[in-house]
Amino acid sequence: MQKITAAITAVGGYVPEDKLTNADFERMVDTNDEWIKTRTGIEERHILKGEGKATSDLVVPAVQDLCKKRGIDPDEIECLVVATITPDMFFPNTANVACDKLGIKHAWGFDIMAACSGFLYALTTAASLIESGRYKKVAVVGADKMSSIVDYTDRTTCILFGDGAGAVLLEPNTEGYGVLDSILKSDGSGGKYLHMKGGGSLNPPSADTVAQKMHYLFQDGQPVFKFAVTGMADVSYELIQRNNLTADDVAWLVPHQANKRIIDATARRMGLSDEKVLLNIQRYGNTTAATIPLCLWDYQGRFKRGDNIVLAAFGGGFTWGATWIKWAI
Ligand code: UT7
Repeated sequence: MQKITAAITAVGGYVPEDKLTNADFERMVDTNDEWIKTRTGIEERHILKGEGKATSDLVVPAVQDLCKKRGIDPDEIECLVVATITPDMFFPNTANVACDKLGIKHAWGFDIMAACSGFLYALTTAASLIESGRYKKVAVVGADKMSSIVDYTDRTTCILFGDGAGAVLLEPNTEGYGVLDSILKSDGSGGKYLHMKGGGSLNPPSADTVAQKMHYLFQDGQPVFKFAVTGMADVSYELIQRNNLTADDVAWLVPHQANKRIIDATARRMGLSDEKVLLNIQRYGNTTAATIPLCLWDYQGRFKRGDNIVLAAFGGGFTWGATWIKWAI
């Protein structure tokens, strides 16, 4: 029997219309455009505004875009996997909520929480559903409404994050295209540097958790930066080494967009020239689980069938990883 791989057959995406620019932040906190651009590479981020709007409202247009591109009805999707750390609610899961809003009646779905590596964890999990031979159409979405957990009085974190969603459709392939290898890692001892303390079973919501700002994202930037630089670079290098790929064989690096300096370090370790490194951090900021699929969405016009693409991420947990895909479209 021929080996089945999970090919990406369409990419969709969505960012909300409203934006927060660096100039907006200059009016909100003690910061400036120069600091933000040189330290992070970010110029603006999109923000989901409006009463009753949640992460599923980012997932829905991204999946609709995906289905339009592939020419299918959303109800043809058999399983929807959503990577997010900002679910609409603790339960039901965001995938279930989104399926209902999309009119998907015949699918099952679930959420995966692995912060900025969420999309790679979800893609690898979803690929195995296809590889098993049991499923023919699995949609994977990375989506986060980061504005719902950002403290807009904290200049060290608020300038970093934005909202958005990116989606890919996985279908079986027997010609060697699609998700070919992944190395995924985690280290819970890094949790103290990047987390949200309140709202879970450890610190259930109370007047006290609100007063202590425990429902906002916390990040100790420097140690995260240090671990991210080595973690993302090492795992990407390990991935290409174990698949006998050279820098020349890699057409594109699609990195998690948290900080341009972390991305540059990864590209250097892999021996890649700048033209092969895809960036959109300047327009969206860090959209957590959405950065990688939004980058695929923005740059899909440049990809050719057969291109070797390395996806790489590092995030809260710590979680990190790299995935090798051979472009199928
Ligand atoms: O996506 C999930 C994983 N997350 C990451 O990968 C993020 C990793 N960390 C980073 O990208 C960087 O650490 C940051 C971009 C968050 C911060 O950059 P940094 O170069 O590490 O800055 P820093 O935290 O060392 O701060 C340097 C200075 C400090 O002032 P002093 O103590 O030197 O006087 C900060 O108070 O910059 C100050 N600062 C700011 N100044 C203007 C911090 N935030 C700001 C700001 N505007 N927004």
